[in-house]
Amino acid sequence: MSNLALIKNLPKAELHVHIEGTFEPELMFAIAKRNQIAIPYSSVEEVKNAYNFHNLQSFLDIYYAGANVLIHEQDFYDLAWAYFEKCATDNVVHTEIFFDPQTHTERGMDFATCFNGLYRACQDAKQKLNISSHLIMCFLRHLSEESAFNTLEQALPFKDKIIGVGLDSSEVGNPPSKFERVFARARELGFLTVAHAGEEGDPDYVWQALNLLKVNRIDHGVRSEEDDKLMQRLIAEQMPLTVCPLSNLKLCVVKNLTDHNIKRMLNQGVCVTVNSDDPAYFGGYMNDNFIAIDTALNLTSDELKQLAINSFNASFISDDEKQYWISKIKAY
Ligand code: HPA
Ligand code: ZN
Repeated sequence: MSNLALIKNLPKAELHVHIEGTFEPELMFAIAKRNQIAIPYSSVEEVKNAYNFHNLQSFLDIYYAGANVLIHEQDFYDLAWAYFEKCATDNVVHTEIFFDPQTHTERGMDFATCFNGLYRACQDAKQKLNISSHLIMCFLRHLSEESAFNTLEQALPFKDKIIGVGLDSSEVGNPPSKFERVFARARELGFLTVAHAGEEGDPDYVWQALNLLKVNRIDHGVRSEEDDKLMQRLIAEQMPLTVCPLSNLKLCVVKNLTDHNIKRMLNQGVCVTVNSDDPAYFGGYMNDNFIAIDTALNLTSDELKQLAINSFNASFISDDEKQYWISKIKAY
């Protein structure tokens, strides 16, 4: 089987995708129109031309602006449903979706409006597409600790429907230590924890995420390679890194995908996984990310299979479910 066929056929889990980052310009125009909200672009082409980023912040400014057209529960449903259809195309059989409630509550929306739309799409995805999912609530790290505590409070009525909490937005200058107390409370409440670290921030941000936030996974983490001791710890603990190759390319974390360290880290025994991050902005969903690194780094079929196996091992599904999918992958 060719690598391309293998990539398409392997069952995969996605562990790092921001639902607001799956907002395709076509859907953005449609929802803006029905909500009678003006957007500063006249065509889908013009929107796509604006997606020229030079770092994380230049992306975030546009990403938050795009989310402003989401108003009604149905908008969030439609957003998530469109993403699940992409999952079906790519044979992503399980996904753990980030959502950013503060992006919406800070502009006056109810937590429930956003949450209920997303959750209903998750239920329909299981029923109609047989795709399982979990929701992970992210705190925006550029906002205050107090705002994060408020958000945690607002999530309590939905606690059983949210598997964990995460940390995203502008990394440098907003270290994990800022959220040590919020994460401690979240863990006490039974939430699993993840955090973006080592995307633009140095390895100390990854150490803090491990030691202070006691995370179950690191999102991105590609700068961990600069610190040998950290690499040893990640390998020893099989601490997953949810790597997003096309994101790293678009945000200039790497100059070329041929420079990307995912293959090197995989072969050193780090539990790296492939993910799309914000696929509507970065030029591709799960399989596009696999194809891009396969092309740039000449992956072997065993490496492709190991990346798919890692995606299930690193996920928050049960051990039985993990073994079910891993045995299917090994049979290829
Ligand atoms: N990093 C930080 N925050 C984000 C990202 C990311 O890659 N995508 C959406 N919010
Ligand atoms: Zn991300």
